Amino acid sequence: MSRDIFRIIYKSTAAHRTEVMLGQGHVADLLATARQRNQAADVSGVLVYTGLGFFQVLEGARTAVQPIFESILVDRRHHTLAVIEMDFAAERRFPGWSMGFLGTTRELDDRLNGADLGPSGGPEVLDQLLRRTLLLLVDSPISMPWLGARAALDDGLGGPGPSAARHS
Ligand SMILES: Cc1cc2nc3c(=O)[nH]c(=O)nc-3n(C[C@H](O)[C@H](O)[C@H](O)COP(=O)(O)O)c2cc1C
Repeated sequence: MSRDIFRIIYKSTAAHRTEVMLGQGHVADLLATARQRNQAADVSGVLVYTGLGFFQVLEGARTAVQPIFESILVDRRHHTLAVIEMDFAAERRFPGWSMGFLGTTRELDDRLNGADLGPSGGPEVLDQLLRRTLLLLVDSPISMPWLGARAALDDGLGGPGPSAARHS
């Protein structure tokens, strides 16, 4: 396998309850930083915030992903981080997403993604399926049938579908 793309998938627990994470702008702030830094480093991925915690996929050159992940590891906005996968990958799953964001509600998605970055006509069904699959992963113990979940992603959810553009 090519060693061009390195991928890290982890889940973590938010440091504060939802009202604080959102009300004090923690999620918005980290997302803004993430998009800026990731874009500069050509790192792509997706961040899911469930209200209880995070699930994140980071992918790019290993030399780019690693320092970003080291920053994330010591970030006090979350804790109890557990790595689900850390390996080289054949290709990016989220090309063009400097950090795609999926929140607990469409309203939160739209607010944190910016009004002008709202849904741009991608198939809603694909979006919903991706959201459900990712949320399932976040809220499940690591011993979950991960391969089954990954099969769902491999079944066409991870590719650069039309909805990818809305989060770039
Ligand atoms: C759940 C979570 C996800 C994050 N994702 C990213 C990310 O994808 N890219 C990024 O540059 N920073 C991300 N951050 C912010 C980093 O932890 C860090 O604050 C930022 O990269 C600045 O790094 P520095 O403090 O080492 O300068 C995330 C933070 C949290 C809590």
